[in-house]
Amino acid sequence: MATYRIRHCEQLSGEVSIHASKNAVLPILCAGLLTSEPITIEKVPLLTDVETLVDILTECGVHTSKHQDALILWSDEPRSPVSENLLSRMRASVLVMGPLLARTGYARVALPGGCAIGQRPIDLHIKGMQALGAEAQLTPGSVTLQGELKGGNVYLDFPSVGATENIILAAVLAKGTTRIENAAKEPEIVDLCAFLTEMGAKISGSGTGTILIEGQRQLHGCIYKPIPDRIEAGTILCAAAMTEGSVLLRGVRPDHMRAVLFKLVESGVKLKETGAGLRLSGKASQPIQVRTLAYPGFPTDMQAPMMALALKLRGTSVFLETIFENRFMHAREMARLGASIRIEDRIALVNGGHVLAGSTVSSTDLRGGAAMILAGLAAEGETVLKDPDGHIARGYEDLPGMLRTLGADVTMDEWDSADANG
Ligand code: EPZ
Repeated sequence: MATYRIRHCEQLSGEVSIHASKNAVLPILCAGLLTSEPITIEKVPLLTDVETLVDILTECGVHTSKHQDALILWSDEPRSPVSENLLSRMRASVLVMGPLLARTGYARVALPGGCAIGQRPIDLHIKGMQALGAEAQLTPGSVTLQGELKGGNVYLDFPSVGATENIILAAVLAKGTTRIENAAKEPEIVDLCAFLTEMGAKISGSGTGTILIEGQRQLHGCIYKPIPDRIEAGTILCAAAMTEGSVLLRGVRPDHMRAVLFKLVESGVKLKETGAGLRLSGKASQPIQVRTLAYPGFPTDMQAPMMALALKLRGTSVFLETIFENRFMHAREMARLGASIRIEDRIALVNGGHVLAGSTVSSTDLRGGAAMILAGLAAEGETVLKDPDGHIARGYEDLPGMLRTLGADVTMDEWDSADANG
């Protein structure tokens, strides 16, 4: 689907604006299932994950229309999706479960797909719906839930982002009060709750481990602008830190990115928050230790881009991945450029500071693919990055264009998969 060509880059400098957060927008769009009044979501990023979700929502009876960069959604008679193929293309498709169940008393969804970064079960989503009174029936490849939802107490064994969102999206229309314990605290959860509150939902405690939701008979339309993408911002900062440049990010929320900013400072760069945005200057040089954790810990989605930065840091950087069991696939591709990385189970030891040489490499998953673009900037000569499954465009709106704005030489050619077969 896409081939990226990346040339060695000594310095990035200039300014870029950060797009709206993919992981905030996806659950917000699912709220189109909750009301017959139009919700208007501003500045929706141009991502293939957004396109896929809109196709799924359309199958679920959601009407959509575009007005400039806003997407307007509403649904009179929502229904369960039928195309398993569509659902299996993205993990976030499971987020139609909660709102469908709450609005219609019935939801049948295929088990979702997404990046191959781990097993990614949905048991916590299902347990949450059961705690709200739904009956669940599992068949190979799909789950059917039905029942009139009533508020209930949910304890999550792990603060799953998706399960917390799905339960909130169900509980806002359930009869009575729902309490979620050990809820996820990510900024995207807080944003979803702020948006639902605009729709008339009554929610307290978002951003803490205990969220209370008082169900409403119905919700109404609203206009909302989601938060900026902290992972896109972090990826650009890692690219900038690999060079001795000065980059200004506009429209970021540094308070959503503290763990990443601390690691960047530990690596030796300077960061300054000004009215204009967040400026990074200087060059990273010190090795770092990274342990991925649920928010406010270091985000797993930044592990791969941070590893690309570690390729430039003299000495051994250590990465411990605690969230997903298979999220080091990019390390093998980095090794093709000459990187020295040893993987032991969930730990990666990156011996940085070696000269890297451009080569042909593959994009293994969304963040791993973006990390390979960064690694290509560090490698001598040209790196050709093959992304046949279109991973990078799922979650980054024009990453090559953003890097070109900062002076990098990165291009992308799109090709049709039919071309590959002649
Ligand atoms: C969200 O995925 C993000 N996706 C992911 O972003 C992100 O990596 C992840 O949260 C962690 O921050 C979206 O927001 C659309 P989880 P999600 O449920 O909700 C286990 C990216 O690159 N688990 O918090 O699927 C699970 O297997 C992506 O943009 C269960 O065991 O993540 C994993 O080990 C990819 N049972 C851990 O919890 C469940 O029912 C965290 O998953 C659910 C999850």
